[in-house]
Amino acid sequence: MGIFNTSHSYGIISILFHWMMALILLATFLLGLNLKDNFQNYDMVLMLHNSLGILIFLLAVFRLCWRWFNILPDPLATRKVLIKLATFIHILFYIIFFVMPLTGYLLTNLQGDVVNFFGTQLPEVLERNRDMKRIVHSIHDILGNIILAMLTLHIVGALYHHYWLKDNTLKRISFFNKVKANRE
Ligand code: HEM
Ligand code: HEM
Repeated sequence: MGIFNTSHSYGIISILFHWMMALILLATFLLGLNLKDNFQNYDMVLMLHNSLGILIFLLAVFRLCWRWFNILPDPLATRKVLIKLATFIHILFYIIFFVMPLTGYLLTNLQGDVVNFFGTQLPEVLERNRDMKRIVHSIHDILGNIILAMLTLHIVGALYHHYWLKDNTLKRISFFNKVKANRE
């Protein structure tokens, strides 16, 4: 497995980014849900949620740059409409990586808190405002539900390739991808 992507497999950096961000996104999501009715450790959980959310934003910038300098592996044979759906979901993930942290940042300020990135307080860009807070909260919440739907489709797609089509789509983005030449 090389550092860069090839036309038939992902390189180690893309694979690392994929799984690292999947884990961080999951953790951020669960911490976000926990904030809903967490009264005892609210500040601590909010700090962790803020920090991981902003980390997603920063990693997404690196990941996009990495994609820019690389080729993408060719999609493996399947119906065109499914390839388009998969690509659409990938693009949507990237949009979410930026919009979710942005709305989260504004939401934190609007509810009167300062965004804390692993101990460093970040500038307050908006003042406390209840009405705007309600709107931005709904947007952040709806985006969270959209992530769930996208992730479900994404995983179902990956499993469909792996177990039904039995191709290398999942293998080539995993760490143990001994891709056979005849299946590339
Ligand atoms: C991709 C990154 C993120 C994901 C997946 C995410 C997800 C969530 C989810 C699922 C909730 C619960 C929604 C609800 O209350 O109905 C939430 C709430 C919240 N998030 Fe995020 N979030 C992200 C990034 C951020 C960032 C970067 C910040 C701040 C800098 C932030 C600030 C907040 C705040 C203030 C709440 C409301 C907490 C409360 O209900 O008291 N989020 N987030
Ligand atoms: C929150 C979690 C996840 C996110 C945000 C995510 C996002 C992405 C993105 C953006 C790509 C496009 C390639 C790239 O830009 O690096 C991708 C590819 C892929 N993901 Fe995920 N992913 C997640 C979880 C998973 C899981 C749990 C699986 C497996 C069950 C999976 C299987 C795949 C596969 C097989 C590809 C390659 C698709 C292809 O070659 O066309 N992903 N993922």
